[in-house]
Amino acid sequence: MKGLILAGGHGTRLRPITHTSNKHLIPLANKPMLYYAIETLRNAGIKDIGIIVGHTPQRIQEIKDAIGDGSKFGVSVTYIEQDAPRGLAHAIGVAKEYLTSNNADGKFVVHLGDNIIKGGIKKYVEKFSEPGIDSLILLKSIQNPNRFGVAEIKNGKIVRLVEKPQIPPSDLAMVGVYMLNSSIFDSIEKLKPSARGEYEITEAVQGVIDSGKNVHHEIIDAEWWKDPGDPDGILEANRFLLEELVPFNKGTVEEGSNIVGKVCIEEGAVIKKGSSIRGPVIIGKNCVVGENAYIGPYTAIGDNTIVNNAEIESSVVIGDCKIECKGRIIDSLIGKNVTIISSDKNSPKASKLVVGENSFLSI
Ligand code: DAU
Repeated sequence: MKGLILAGGHGTRLRPITHTSNKHLIPLANKPMLYYAIETLRNAGIKDIGIIVGHTPQRIQEIKDAIGDGSKFGVSVTYIEQDAPRGLAHAIGVAKEYLTSNNADGKFVVHLGDNIIKGGIKKYVEKFSEPGIDSLILLKSIQNPNRFGVAEIKNGKIVRLVEKPQIPPSDLAMVGVYMLNSSIFDSIEKLKPSARGEYEITEAVQGVIDSGKNVHHEIIDAEWWKDPGDPDGILEANRFLLEELVPFNKGTVEEGSNIVGKVCIEEGAVIKKGSSIRGPVIIGKNCVVGENAYIGPYTAIGDNTIVNNAEIESSVVIGDCKIECKGRIIDSLIGKNVTIISSDKNSPKASKLVVGENSFLSI
């Protein structure tokens, strides 16, 4: 069984961050988003993984630099370019040769590069590997599934799949993990672009169902499932993932600093006396949390960042930043190499920011 991770697309809703870097490398709890999908497949026993990488050379290189040949994850990675983000079904079609060659049972698992499922998918992959199942679709019961694919079930079988319906036929959203075999390719070949101009995965799987293949589904019991597509989604996923961390300290915590709750401190980081950290928080490598700085719950501070005086809460700071403003930064997504200072004594008490790479803010 092979795996395919979709990491193409524009990431439009995450601009300005995605103007300069790939959405799938945005860190969640200080780990690039894409790592979670690779680890999920690996932990389910899938070691041959293709990654769809879009077509922009810089974006492709960033992913290759971050993932390499996959050996650091214990998997083997093959990169597959998609000429434009023409839809999930198109991306799977592009990977046909990879997915069908040297694949003993002909089965594969497609994992969207922006989906994270607590607890992984191992038991569902085991079920899918049983003989006679052509496809296994994962669903989750949620309120307001309008922005997802939604399944209609009759007599224990999926009868209809609709993409982002205004009036959903059920509360069962399609999770971004699709277990498939080569029957999907016949269906993809017959697809036409949808009203929004994409080759839809929902229509491709519908074709497999309509051709009489054996399509199973599972309603997953995971405590949570996230598909962060915008800044608020990133902050939410970051919150849930920080809750999962086991605290550690590989850095230097000076006497007279105040650390409460679940806090992870990476190598080379210095937490100065007079500073205060209230977990769940992760502080990246070589960071300095200076005197009077306060890092509040649900915050991830990326490597090589200096925080002086400022208070930061419920935020993601991607890394290489200098934050020395007065007042509080809350619910913010701050790109790489950003400097934030205070302009004068009337600085705002609290700021909510989404700041792209290499920015300078005086607030
Ligand atoms: O998250 C689950 C949902 O994912 C499903 O319920 C929907 O049925 C499915 O269509 C999908 O909806 P999204 O609107 O969230 O898909 P999005 O365009 O965000 O793309 C998902 C991932 O696939 C994202 O990481 C980028 C990648 N992608 C996307 C497109 C359109 C590609 O690699 N190539 C593409 O052409």
